[in-house]
Amino acid sequence: MPERLIRTFGPGRVNLIGEHTDYNGGLALPFAIDLGVTVEAEPLRGGEIRAAARDLGESDAFAPVAPARANGWRAFVRGTVAELRAAGVEIGGARLAIAGDLPQGSGLSSSAALETALCLALLAVADAPEPDRVDLAKLCSRVENDWVGAETGLLDQLAALCCEPGHALRIDFATLALEPVPLDLGGWRLVTLESGAEHRHAAGGYNERRAECRAASEALGVEHLSAADSTAAAGLPEPLRRRARHVLSENARVDAMVAALRTGDLRAAGELLDASHASLRDDYDASVPEVEAAVERLKRAGAAGARMVGGGFGGSVLGLLPPEAPVPAAARAVAPGPPARRL
Ligand code: GLA
Repeated sequence: MPERLIRTFGPGRVNLIGEHTDYNGGLALPFAIDLGVTVEAEPLRGGEIRAAARDLGESDAFAPVAPARANGWRAFVRGTVAELRAAGVEIGGARLAIAGDLPQGSGLSSSAALETALCLALLAVADAPEPDRVDLAKLCSRVENDWVGAETGLLDQLAALCCEPGHALRIDFATLALEPVPLDLGGWRLVTLESGAEHRHAAGGYNERRAECRAASEALGVEHLSAADSTAAAGLPEPLRRRARHVLSENARVDAMVAALRTGDLRAAGELLDASHASLRDDYDASVPEVEAAVERLKRAGAAGARMVGGGFGGSVLGLLPPEAPVPAAARAVAPGPPARRL
């Protein structure tokens, strides 16, 4: 048994509602799930980082001072080391072993699961105190933006680091105010179903949507789209008009969902999921045929509502099933679990 074996876990997340709002200064309502990424770490003499991705049978070795760029999972490890060092954490030699049970490209944020598990493991190896979790989320987001090349927002990292068991987390991205919202579903269940189309941020339409939202904000003279006036936004040229309409209506649906959960109106919650999906498909153009088929399957199985989760263009679909509806084959029940942690 090695002298100091550290184990950390970073969860995946399901975003109940509030999609493509994070980089628009809007609202979202994610929860952390029990699937995720586990990192085993131990200090290593000699100053080198040696990392192994167990599920892929691949490895990497590099010096923590100014690591060179790399692709795929190696970009996450090198980026996390570099960003922690830039934040003043003394990272020395370490052996890291990464394993996970969250399918990559499923839209349940295997990226943030990996970033947060790596961060907590490297901090523990360095014997460094854990920084504020919102700051840590920003650090993980820099890894994704600057090292992996995906221009994602803060949703996934805040969900992985700041959610509470049994709760969804209402996030206001304009202020970064966080509010846990109890997710009491009675006998109802939330399930995810993979569409079979792999969702890929860097290669998908994600960065294009971000650019469109930036263009819309500039045209309206607002800092971010959530601050736009809906009448002014209705005068934008296409497709910017529809992009803005999605963001503004999605923000309103987040608060309607919080209200529905507080009063236990799960039929209304289901309708909000359907409305979110329609908006992502018709106004945000973020759907693909496989996702539509997966939504249809959940609806036929009796879901009160279903929608794509995460960045879209593939990935998983979320459905809300009433107590009498059995979980359909290949779907998986998901519940709000604890955030990233040392095991
Ligand atoms: C991906 C990104 C998030 C967020 C969602 C869409 O999951 O990583 O930052 O933008 O898409 O809501």
